[in-house]
Amino acid sequence: MKIQKSLFLLLFFAVSCTKNDIPTCVDDVALFSLADFPIGVAVSPFELESNSAYRQIVVEQFNRITPGNVFKPDALQPLENDFSFEIADSLVAFANANGKQIHGHTLLWHNQLPSWMNNFSGNRDEWISMMETHIKTVVAHFGNQVKSWDVVNEAFEDNGDFRANIWYQNIGEEYLKLAFELAHEANPDAILFYNDFNIAAKPKKCEAILNHFKKLKNEGVPVHGIGLQLHIFNATPSENKIENAVKAIVNEGFQVHFSEIDISMNLSGGNMQLTDNKLQKQGERMKLLTDIFQNIPENQQFGMTIWGVSDLDSWIPSFFGREDYPLLYDENYEPKPMYCGFLEGLTER
Ligand code: XIL
Repeated sequence: MKIQKSLFLLLFFAVSCTKNDIPTCVDDVALFSLADFPIGVAVSPFELESNSAYRQIVVEQFNRITPGNVFKPDALQPLENDFSFEIADSLVAFANANGKQIHGHTLLWHNQLPSWMNNFSGNRDEWISMMETHIKTVVAHFGNQVKSWDVVNEAFEDNGDFRANIWYQNIGEEYLKLAFELAHEANPDAILFYNDFNIAAKPKKCEAILNHFKKLKNEGVPVHGIGLQLHIFNATPSENKIENAVKAIVNEGFQVHFSEIDISMNLSGGNMQLTDNKLQKQGERMKLLTDIFQNIPENQQFGMTIWGVSDLDSWIPSFFGREDYPLLYDENYEPKPMYCGFLEGLTER
């Protein structure tokens, strides 16, 4: 691995050095071949099927896949006790055929729930039983084809309070502990994550999450890792804040997943001017994230996952209603300086 990396480094800088810190670069080397940990990407099976440029990048550059939407509760259990695995299974088949791991996302959340689940009425025991059916059926269905899961997504508010989602309202804070135990019962080999946004940007949120999961871990609950989504901007949160959050998580012995990386440039919303300077900054930011990740002790590095393939596929513009360019590839599926920053960060090790 090291020899391969130094050879590549030589070639890379021989052909592509520019006056800037981040060289222009070509994507004829696989990102995952440069890393000692998995390099993931969120994908849509529909794009994989219909878009050959998209598929080629996924196949060539990444060795782990997170389903962007098709493992969410509304996709997998659209009607009560009526599970729908066909599309998810097609993604698993793609992953198996191409030697990619799958990271399951997500068993519980407050968004993308089927309406019957949102409107479920029952006492606490009935809620627990409904949650148990969902978690156990899904985890057992995939078995060891899906070796890791986001068990609970976004359960805390930025101020550290529990989010008052349907699970919290009907079961109470114990739903978190129960969810991890149920997932573990259904697949004792799976690596189980708590996943959230703003963990680095909001220290109170980070503290609340760590206090809660540290307590559960000490009680023997199978919580193995924390996913920092990292939907971030070119300039915020600061390097310091990201490092502090990562250190705190590492110190508690959890695995770390940079689980949903994208880097926005448009802080003010609406339209924006895409400049070389902004693209350059985005590349430096990606390199910084890669450096921070590689400073994590190796046995706690779960992986780095990018939330989509090209700027064309990003959820940011439609979800937040702003122009933006947050991903590694441009709208023509050409690598951007952000790709080069990632590659440079991985290569320098
Ligand atoms: C996003 C998907 O990318 C979009 O396609 C969908 O419309 C909304 O959800 N945090 C998460 C992800 O954990 O599941 C979200 O994915 C982005 C924010």
